[in-house]
Amino acid sequence: MIIILGATGTIGRQLVKLLEKSQHEFRLVARSIEHAKKVLPAQFVRYGDLDSPQSLAAAFDGGTCLFLLSGHGEGMEAQQINAINTATKLGIKRIVKISGCEASIAPHAKSETGREHYRIEQHLKKYCNDYVILRCNFFMQNLLGPVAGMVKNKNKILMPFSKDTIFSFIDAQDIAACAMQALIQEKHSAKTFYITGQPSSFLELSEALSEHLSKPVAYKKVPLWVVKIIMRIKGESARHIRHQSQMAKLFMLGAGIKSTTSVNDLLGHPPITLNHFIKSNLNHFQ
Ligand SMILES: NC(=O)c1ccc[n+]([C@@H]2O[C@H](COP(=O)([O-])OP(=O)(O)OC[C@H]3O[C@@H](n4cnc5c(N)ncnc54)[C@H](OP(=O)(O)O)[C@@H]3O)[C@@H](O)[C@H]2O)c1
Repeated sequence: MIIILGATGTIGRQLVKLLEKSQHEFRLVARSIEHAKKVLPAQFVRYGDLDSPQSLAAAFDGGTCLFLLSGHGEGMEAQQINAINTATKLGIKRIVKISGCEASIAPHAKSETGREHYRIEQHLKKYCNDYVILRCNFFMQNLLGPVAGMVKNKNKILMPFSKDTIFSFIDAQDIAACAMQALIQEKHSAKTFYITGQPSSFLELSEALSEHLSKPVAYKKVPLWVVKIIMRIKGESARHIRHQSQMAKLFMLGAGIKSTTSVNDLLGHPPITLNHFIKSNLNHFQ
């Protein structure tokens, strides 16, 4: 039985759709049963809070595989270590971990989240022989938040990157499909994949939006300090502002350039393109 963490999140919801279509038995572990039962198939939801390790044994009961994901907020490292420790104690064989952008993952990386993902990966490899690590590039779904709001309200995108800075944006739908393969195919054991889309940029995004919305959408580079002030005014947490700022600096230095064949290798087809993603999610920008 496959135990899913983070089922209410961006990747998790896509993964649940795939699991529902499959023959595999699964359970969805959530800290808020009430919320999870509203947005997920309620009969599969179980209580479990990663901040409360004593809740995890019951949450993981009967599991043979664990999908390991929690948001990159405060406490991510402790939460995921709790999950790995409980899962290995219970004899769960395979653990599939969603990890960060490859260029951010190192013991002394400039990104706090990258350092945490590095230490979680190390812990996972030490205590679980049958792991699969899926490092992921910048999600296309990130573009559906403040970026889509700017397009909707002002017909322009303000970001701290040059318009042609390369991002190999990846659709969370592809990540979920890769995770499904990682959970069910034995041959992927003890492997680390870096999941990316094809090279693209904010220029390509503004051009695709201009075409599909039939109105000009401009792109303007703004200094990172301006973005940080806006985030503070909006009341974003210190951790989130730090994370966004550290990642932005890495992407300015080319962290998003690398484009891999992992989606093709795992799924047998190329990743979803930015243009296709925009067309499928146009309502967010209107
Ligand atoms: N966004 C990117 O571009 C990007 C790129 C590379 C890697 N990543 C990595 O991807 C991961 C996030 O993936 P995502 O965007 O799919 O997740 P997400 O949408 O941020 O959702 C986080 C999930 O974790 C659950 N969760 C949080 N705290 C929990 C707790 N204490 N107990 C149980 N569940 C808990 C949340 O449940 P609730 O519904 O209860 O909140 C939610 O289902 C992070 O590790 C991040 O570093 C992100």
